[in-house]
Amino acid sequence: MIDVEVVERQAMAEVGAAKTVADLDDVEQSVLGKRGALAAAHRQLGAMDPEQRRSMGRVLHESRQRLEQAITDRRVHLAASEREAALAADRLDLTEAFEAFGPEGRGHLHLTTRTRLELEDTFVGMGFVVAEGPEAETDWYNFEALNIPPAHPARGMFDTFYLELGEPETVVLRTHTSPVQIHLMEEAVRSGTLPIHAVIPGRCYRRDTPDARHLAVFHQIEGLVVDRGITFADLAGTIETFTGTYFGADIHSRLRPAYFPFTEPSAEYEITCTICHGGGCRTCSGTGWIELGGCGMVDPAVFDAVGVDRSEWSGFAFGFGIDRCAQMRHGIADLRALIENDLRFLRQL
Ligand code: DAH
Repeated sequence: MIDVEVVERQAMAEVGAAKTVADLDDVEQSVLGKRGALAAAHRQLGAMDPEQRRSMGRVLHESRQRLEQAITDRRVHLAASEREAALAADRLDLTEAFEAFGPEGRGHLHLTTRTRLELEDTFVGMGFVVAEGPEAETDWYNFEALNIPPAHPARGMFDTFYLELGEPETVVLRTHTSPVQIHLMEEAVRSGTLPIHAVIPGRCYRRDTPDARHLAVFHQIEGLVVDRGITFADLAGTIETFTGTYFGADIHSRLRPAYFPFTEPSAEYEITCTICHGGGCRTCSGTGWIELGGCGMVDPAVFDAVGVDRSEWSGFAFGFGIDRCAQMRHGIADLRALIENDLRFLRQL
């Protein structure tokens, strides 16, 4: 007669010794399967008297249940550690990529990108949302909807690159971020989601010869507010708040009358020269002020072009150079340093 206790103890030891799920499957086969010791004991039941058969049957049944439970527990445990091992083996070690840069280290964001992110943060803190628009625009968005009709002298300020795509409409690399004003207002009118409080950073193009303060490919950040009861005081307050927040409390803004076709009245936006702090120096031509961009109240003709009801809404807009901001904040003498990829310059920032 088989000693069930001995069989069970031995089987338990085998279950505990199984190192993998596959091992455990084999153990299960040999312990609980047809050829296993328990099955053999079961076959002996037939030769027993009923009393003995019943008690022996119960002993066998309980032993089998304990073994099944032990196997299930062991399987859960083994499967978990196998999965852990597989994950550890598969781990993608991203730090390895940095080693490929060698002694140069892992690098950092370019100053222009960092400046854009800082400007976005400043405006988001003032309640603006960040929007984007295409870099290639039709003549309508870049010029006409902004109240710059064909042959208008103001086009001279924006000499740009024209794309010959064989389309009926003229396509240009945008000369400023102002066309995104048109996209935002059209969309808001279409979806009934006025008011708008947005800033729009992005790349712009002009057929300019690069010099210390100009690049043919440069970056602007545009602002557009369209709401009820907006006045020039809101524009001036927004500009001054931004200036102090971004450049520091000792830097101020001033607005000087100017002309832009898409704003009326329009102003040039200047800040205290960050080099001489207003005293006058070579960089600011002795004036103590540096021009950053333009601004003004959205021209009624622009509202008409996009279908904003100007009896209900008014608004202001501004636009200035991101590269110019970086130049002013970090005292960079020549803007071309930003695109020359000279590591001696880039590493300082
Ligand atoms: N788009 C103008 C430029 O590139 C700058 C500008 C002036 C933007 C006045 C504005 C504005 O939004 O109101 O020179």
